[in-house]
Amino acid sequence: MIGGALEVAAKLLKDGQVIGIPTETVYGLAANALNEKSVVSIFEIKNRPFFDPLILHFSDIASIQKYVLDFNSNALKLAEAFWPGPLTLLLNKNELVPDIVTAGSHLVAVRIPNHPLTLSLLRHLDFPLAAPSANPFGYISPTKAEHVETQLGQLVPYILDGGDCQVGLESTIVDCSTDVLAVRRLGGLSVLEIEKCLGIPIKIDISSSSNPSSPGQLDKHYAPKTPFVLIENIESALIKFRSKKLAYLGFGDIQLPEDVYTLNLSSNSDLAEAAQNLFHYMRLLDSLSFDCILATNVPDIGLGKAINDRLKRAAADYKDFK
Ligand code: TXA
Ligand code: MG
Repeated sequence: MIGGALEVAAKLLKDGQVIGIPTETVYGLAANALNEKSVVSIFEIKNRPFFDPLILHFSDIASIQKYVLDFNSNALKLAEAFWPGPLTLLLNKNELVPDIVTAGSHLVAVRIPNHPLTLSLLRHLDFPLAAPSANPFGYISPTKAEHVETQLGQLVPYILDGGDCQVGLESTIVDCSTDVLAVRRLGGLSVLEIEKCLGIPIKIDISSSSNPSSPGQLDKHYAPKTPFVLIENIESALIKFRSKKLAYLGFGDIQLPEDVYTLNLSSNSDLAEAAQNLFHYMRLLDSLSFDCILATNVPDIGLGKAINDRLKRAAADYKDFK
């Protein structure tokens, strides 16, 4: 038996509604993946194009096996090592997965999220949950229930509050559909960890939407409304942009003039802490009416690669900002 918030969430989902759910990576906008009408509602609420497929969420591997043609040995190795956790696998789907979920692809994205509330919810449902990140298409992903409430609260009947997301970056996506594995999105599980588990190097293939195997990986994504500029050197940027009201999103041991509003992703240079803070800080700075948010890359190792990927996409429209 479940009670309280979980019971409310389960009932709404069984009724075909779309609700906000917590995961360890980011909040999701979830609905019954087998109910095409509910899945259409997800796309409408997010204002998301139908070419961008959705990830299916499950509580266990046995349930996933019902929806894929072959849960092969590489997939099993990664699943056993990292699930529940910030990893999504692309596998060949069977006919039970509606085409709208996969945008017509023969591949389906599946994962077991590591959040106690959502795992418990999934165990009480007899269908998988399709869930993209719970943000309007193209905007910064939500890592707190308030983020979902602020932007989509009017459009969904319920948000299951599971506190702050512990990872803070979306799941890493690995294509396991053939023998040659490939990373399709950098995320909350570092490529290094995946390579260690498999014992072989793995190809990173995260090119933009022009690559049909990475739909949804748009150059511009995760973007605040305030101009967001990725710079190499903060001291010279402060001179260049001195006529503007500036905010700075920094990392590590930094000391800046007091008139520059600064948020530090991690003052002790901890990349996991930086990942956890990234989207919240981007949203915070975006809400404060600055002319421009400046940011610098973090070290390009481990989780830093995924953080830098998000920073690059957020800044995609402002390469020539003056
Ligand atoms: O951490 C996460 O993965 C979060 C939480 C809620 O689970 N979800 C998430 O979903 O980030 P979303 O919709 O924001 O990103 C899903 C991305 C798509 O944009 C696409 O790049 C990839 O997953 N994807 C999904 N299904 C796919 C498929 N069949 N083939 C290739 N890529 C797929
Ligand atoms: Mg998203």
